[in-house]
Amino acid sequence: MSQTITVIPGDGIGPEVTQAVLAVLKAADADLEYDEQIAGLVALKEVRDPLPKATLDSAEQNRVILKGPLTTPSGSGFRSINVAFRKAFDLYANVRPVRTLVPGGRYEDIDLVLIRENTEGLYVGVEHHIGMHGDPRAAAESVMIITRFGAERVCRYAFEYARANGRKKVTLAHKANILKFTQGLFLEVGRKVAEDFPDIEWEDRIIDATAMHLVLDPYQFDVLVMENMFGDILSDLMAGLVGGLGFAPAGNIGIDTAMFEAVHGSAPDIAGQGIANPTGLLLSACLMLDHIGQHEVSSRIRSAIDDVIRAGQALTVDMGGGASTTEYTDALVGALA
Ligand code: NAI
Repeated sequence: MSQTITVIPGDGIGPEVTQAVLAVLKAADADLEYDEQIAGLVALKEVRDPLPKATLDSAEQNRVILKGPLTTPSGSGFRSINVAFRKAFDLYANVRPVRTLVPGGRYEDIDLVLIRENTEGLYVGVEHHIGMHGDPRAAAESVMIITRFGAERVCRYAFEYARANGRKKVTLAHKANILKFTQGLFLEVGRKVAEDFPDIEWEDRIIDATAMHLVLDPYQFDVLVMENMFGDILSDLMAGLVGGLGFAPAGNIGIDTAMFEAVHGSAPDIAGQGIANPTGLLLSACLMLDHIGQHEVSSRIRSAIDDVIRAGQALTVDMGGGASTTEYTDALVGALA
């Protein structure tokens, strides 16, 4: 029986890349039905709610979501819908693999996975202004929340992921030297979890040194696990190692629900121009296919991506080519034929 998934095309380049991904999924004979829903700016305009109940209901029913990027206004306006989704379905592990696709970049054969805690840390958004001397916004304060429960389940997920995927090593990156309570707890819990996985090599490193070492010699890493904001920042750095945000997929995994999305945002600077690279969302769809057991389909799509990129004839601008989103998508569809 085919699986119904909730599809949210999203804002900015979202609809363009989603259309491309659905065309490739069709060409690859993915056994899927789509329940298309709205969220973000589009939903705010159409139904005056950035996260409509119908969208939440659909996600709750289908339990698998493929989501395009959603614009989040900076500083003011509604809170991130991405964060709201992660909270609503307790999507505690954000899995972000990066793999070299375009040859000739700074590094060849990069193959790393970052697992980011997705529900705690500074991104819980517990923050407020503090008034002083007649200025109601003289200061601002934010609270980092780390719980033993949250740290334990994401660290355990990272080790289990390493074991299930034939990976050799887990690096826990932290700032326990300065943030002794919050980051200290994350490290303490990670150390304890590591004891249950004697078959997986493990190490802990300070986050800033990890960033430098990732740039100097990424091959010394394999699976990395860290709290929310550190993971957000380092996963973009890792995307840069393989040529940019256009290639980076993400899975947000909970106990009974999973949401798949590209790491990149809604790219308002190129929205509507037909030049966006859909590979990030397409690789996210591959993670989704793996998640629901359609491994054969995902591996054919990954091969098609490799073939088209290696042939180098229909690459989008961010990959150094001159092709439109549609031309690149047509090449992928052709490679799957
Ligand atoms: P962005 O990822 O949208 O764009 C950064 C740069 O990368 C831009 O120059 C853009 O043109 C380029 N880029 C991104 N995706 C691309 C693609 N598929 N093909 C070719 N080039 C691509 O980040 P930015 O500008 O910081 O954020 C824009 C909006 O997206 C913000 O409102 C932000 O909150 C939101 N956002 C949403 C995310 C999500 O829904 N998961 C994740 C990150 C940002």
